Amino acid sequence: MSFVLAHLSDAHIGPLPKPRLRELLGKRLTGYINWQRRNSIHNMDVLGGIIADIHRHAPDHIAMTGDIMNIGLPGEFAAARAWLRTLGEPEHVSFVPGNHDGYVRNILSFIPETFAPWCSHDGDHHASFPFLRVRGEVALIGVSSAIATGPFLASGAIGPAQLVTLEKLLMDCAARGLFRVVMIHHPPWRGGASFGRGLRDAGAFEQLIARCGAELILHGHNHKRIEKRLQGPDGPVLCIGVASASAVPGTPRHRAAWHMFKIERQGNGWHVQARARGFREGSDELSELDPLAL
Ligand SMILES: [Fe+2]
Repeated sequence: MSFVLAHLSDAHIGPLPKPRLRELLGKRLTGYINWQRRNSIHNMDVLGGIIADIHRHAPDHIAMTGDIMNIGLPGEFAAARAWLRTLGEPEHVSFVPGNHDGYVRNILSFIPETFAPWCSHDGDHHASFPFLRVRGEVALIGVSSAIATGPFLASGAIGPAQLVTLEKLLMDCAARGLFRVVMIHHPPWRGGASFGRGLRDAGAFEQLIARCGAELILHGHNHKRIEKRLQGPDGPVLCIGVASASAVPGTPRHRAAWHMFKIERQGNGWHVQARARGFREGSDELSELDPLAL
């Protein structure tokens, strides 16, 4: 039996609801100005094409690693939830928030309220991080790195409490012989993002993976395809970043794409086949991209 997992990230859906003047105080003001510039980068027709292509391939599960929204306006949450519903039933879609989903402190509590069906433990209706959802022989573990930061910052953190639970989940799932997929928005290694944009406790995450291992780590945030390996107890652990699912311009690694992982048991281990699909330069047609280097 094989399990097909689709991965997309950083949808940055638009248009933005019209903000009230008082909603643009503080960090949102710089974010709003920035969004006017980014608006031409994130194309909703392209995003629609990516989703249609994912659905054509009928994956068993879809992982969305954050940044559905832009500047955390209250009006963005309803749109984000409606958009997430277009991916599929929450049973088949998992979501972890990005820095743009937890943009300012006073909206952080909206995340569990809005996204609970996509980020809850099996058998629970409340959002919790890290969450564990087991589908067949695959354990999907969602970690939140969304924290509120000051203007011009896009950093994230897992925090000590999540790290403790994550270690337990990874160990338990290893004992059950499951294929462990960790989903997180920020690249989870030191130097994974530029100054002011990185995961503050990336070193602790690297150490945790070195102790517990994982079979696959998925992230977004850099709007760029990245193939990386972290050190696990029994060898390297695949850590794959995907481009923004709505980005139009940029290098081949930055243009809109999604990744597809076919996971199969092979003897005592696993075989993973990975494909990337998206838009090549100068083409409006979505096509197969160079395979991911595993
Ligand atoms: Fe993003």
